[in-house]
Parts: sequence; structure tokens; C-alpha cells
Amino acid sequence: PSLTTPSPGSTPPTGSTDPDHVGAYGIHVYQSYGPAGQYTHEFDGDEEFYVDLQRRETVWRLPEFSKFTSFDPQGALRNIAAAKYNLDLLIKRSNSTAATNEVPEVTVFSKSPVMLGQPNTLICLVDNIFPPVINITWLGNGHPVTEGVSETSFISKSDHSFLKISYLTFLPSADDIYDCKVEHWGLDEPLLKHWEPEVPAPMSELTETVVCALGLAVGLVGIVAGTVLIIRGLRSGGASRQQGPL
Ligand SMILES: *[C@@H]1O[C@H](CO)[C@@H](O)[C@H](O)[C@H]1NC(C)=O
Ligand SMILES: *[C@@H]1O[C@H](CO)[C@@H](O)[C@H](O)[C@H]1NC(C)=O
Repeated sequence: PSLTTPSPGSTPPTGSTDPDHVGAYGIHVYQSYGPAGQYTHEFDGDEEFYVDLQRRETVWRLPEFSKFTSFDPQGALRNIAAAKYNLDLLIKRSNSTAATNEVPEVTVFSKSPVMLGQPNTLICLVDNIFPPVINITWLGNGHPVTEGVSETSFISKSDHSFLKISYLTFLPSADDIYDCKVEHWGLDEPLLKHWEPEVPAPMSELTETVVCALGLAVGLVGIVAGTVLIIRGLRSGGASRQQGPL
């Protein structure tokens, strides 16, 4: 098993005094910032579980999985310890070359089509994350929201960058707007990705008045025309013998 520092370059992270070094062995990651590591198992690009390294617990992405199978967190702790050891060697070998910061890509969308008053989930997908140190938070009408928020671990990509997804459950309302806030060393300032429900624009008052007036006019014309036709019908019926005009 070889460990890689997929991160040549020497720019220290902006806004941070500690340059970051990252060692990734497959999906198990250890980095000097923090110091922090992540131990996950993935299946087909989805997270199966991660091991909470502080609490020494396996946390399944879908809690139902734990009913059918288990994973001993001790194995993860040994792996992470080995990754830390290897990273220290690699840092020396690379002359303390720090990880290069990439610019993350942020997309926000809703899980289901938005229906006002129907519970839904907002998804903030952050791609091209490197190094794997990031804050993803939510703002509702400009204020931090913490309730109903959850996120995945860093999910590995074939180009050594990572993907992370944050979720916010919410009740769509025409007046509420949301932002997914991303803080990363690859960004000069926190990035806010805006989202608001796409509700058909309400008719302006002028349009409403015009539509109402037109409807009324058409109705009146109909009544007048109808009345004229009835009168004509009655007259022509009554006057048919006299052959007179209206
Ligand atoms: C290691 O980095 C230091 C400081 O940047 C530099 O002076 C030195 O020449 C480098 N050594 C090697 C072997 O690259
Ligand atoms: C994430 O938030 C913490 C707490 O506010 C802050 O100290 C840290 O610098 C932030 N990380 C990044 C990558 O901006």
C-alpha cells in the first residue's frame, strides 16, 4: 500500500498559518492540519460509513445498515495511525511541500420539485475540494440555520479531490430565501450560493385589473347581445305575420 501526497506546490493556505499536508491511501485520508483524519468506506461513489475517530464509533450513512452488518472501529484507528506515520515520512521526503488549494465548485438544488408548504430538502453539493478542510453552512433569509442540517463525509474522487454534500430539510414558502455558505482556503472570501423557490410570478395589480375589466366587458357584451337576440326573436315571432322589420 503506497501513500500519496497528491499535492505538489508550496502555497501555504491563505488565512492559515499552518500549511496543510494530505496523505490519502485510497479513501482513507490523513492530513497534518488539525491534526485530522477520515476513515470511510464507500460503495460506487456513495458513502457506506465513516468511523468517528474521537468516539471510536462506526457511523453508518443509512442507520438501517447497522442491523445487517458491522465494522470494528479498531481497524480504522490502526489504519489512520499508519497513515499519520506515513504522512510524516512523506512530508520530510517532499521537503514539507504543502497541499495546493483548489477552488471548490458549489451547486444548490432541491431534492424534489418545490411545492409551497410541502416539506423538501435542499442539497448543497461541493465538488473539487482540496485539501479536505471545509465549512459548509446554511443561511435562511441571511441568518445561520443549524436545525435540519446534515452532511456526508468527504467522498473521494479519482483526481484526488473530494466531494461533500450538505442537506437542509425545509418547508418551502414563497418568501424564504436560502444560501449555502462555503469556507475553504481556495476561496478569497466565503462563497454564498443562493437559492430561492421558483414560484410563478404573481400577476401584477395592473394585469389583474385589466384581466378583470376585460372579463367584465366580455360579460356585459354577452348580456347585451343575448338580450338583443331574445328581443329580436320575440319580435320576429310576434311580427312574423306582419312581415315588419324589427
Ligand atoms: C527544502 O526547502 C528549503 C526551504 O524552502 C530549501 O532551502 C532547500 O533547498 C530545499 N531542499 C531540497 C532538498 O529541496
Ligand atoms: C471553519 O470555521 C471555523 C470556526 O469558525 C474557523 O476557525 C475555520 O477557519 C473555518 N475553516 C475554513 C476552511 O475557513
